[in-house]
Amino acid sequence: MNVTHQSITNVLSQHYDLTPSTELVEEMQETYARMDRVVTPPDFAIYAPYIKAINALKKERNAVILGHNYMTPEIFHGVSDFVGDSLQLAMKASDVEADVIVQAGVHFMAETSKILSPEKIVLMPDMAAGCSLAESITAEGIDEMRAKYPGAPVVSYVNTTAEVKAASDICCTSSNAVQIVDAMESDTVIMTPDRYLAQNVANESRKNIVYWPGSCIVHEQYTAQDLRDFRKWNPGTRLIAHPECPPEVVAEADFSGSTSGIIKYVSTEKPEKAMLITECSMASNIADELPEVDFVGPCNMCPYMKKITLQKILYVLHTMEGQVEVDAEIAEKARHSVQAMIDLSRKLGL
Ligand code: 13P
Ligand code: SF4
Repeated sequence: MNVTHQSITNVLSQHYDLTPSTELVEEMQETYARMDRVVTPPDFAIYAPYIKAINALKKERNAVILGHNYMTPEIFHGVSDFVGDSLQLAMKASDVEADVIVQAGVHFMAETSKILSPEKIVLMPDMAAGCSLAESITAEGIDEMRAKYPGAPVVSYVNTTAEVKAASDICCTSSNAVQIVDAMESDTVIMTPDRYLAQNVANESRKNIVYWPGSCIVHEQYTAQDLRDFRKWNPGTRLIAHPECPPEVVAEADFSGSTSGIIKYVSTEKPEKAMLITECSMASNIADELPEVDFVGPCNMCPYMKKITLQKILYVLHTMEGQVEVDAEIAEKARHSVQAMIDLSRKLGL
């Protein structure tokens, strides 16, 4: 799928009235109430016709939208049927009842959904929504690590291509990485492709962890000095970091967890001020539910996640373009790695 913004606009304008509408803001008050702390009424007037059209089309197509926690609020609250972190979305993809899954997230997540639900159509609103971690390693990289550390199992982060998953023994996400690694029989475990997640896991695990030197372009930007400076500038702020951040950043933070772990922590603790050291939309998506928390601090955006828009979601649902395919043999092997992770996570009650 290689279409321009203009051609998408042309196709959609022939079938839908997408003029900004203040009447729709009134009509959709319940939806708007979930994001009115972070989305202004004029902006919602722009989103409302898209939200209405997408939700109607979902019914027609028997489709569900799986929205990652890094989606913008109008996608997260407006059209997603299920939201969550990578593990929750993978689990949902494996058991959701629908003919079509629209992945409001990045490409590796759509591939994971297709691997787990090969009989469903999986639509990716923008095929160029990649991930710096997934791009950092190929199946040859896994072979290289196996040659260097013979006999060590390979635990690959879900932020990888289907080929890399197929070449690995088991997958992990940031919410189960320590438990998955600790469950391996060998003393030495290979983790790919995120060096920082691996180093953070090594700080909590009994295993000797060797890793591939990939990184996330969003989380690697934070430094421990940023956090110290921030504490000085705004005392009393709770600093909460994703484990894709460098270990010195995690050490400086008050809590570290996956995106859903962060949501759970802030929802339970309800700190007066919180800085989420992760992708920018996370704070926006929980701001309305937690009016007592003041979300402060910088905003690092993932350029890949931000490629997903309401307009592109409507376009793929309308045209059924953007279908994700995974080679059957690779899918079969990759399914083994992802399913092993899901089964172990369920067994461990994660
Ligand atoms: P989780 O949602 O699993 O914490 O992962 C974050 C991420 O980087 C997804 O791209
Ligand atoms: Fe990849 Fe980082 Fe973006 Fe997540 S936030 S999709 S890990 S680049």
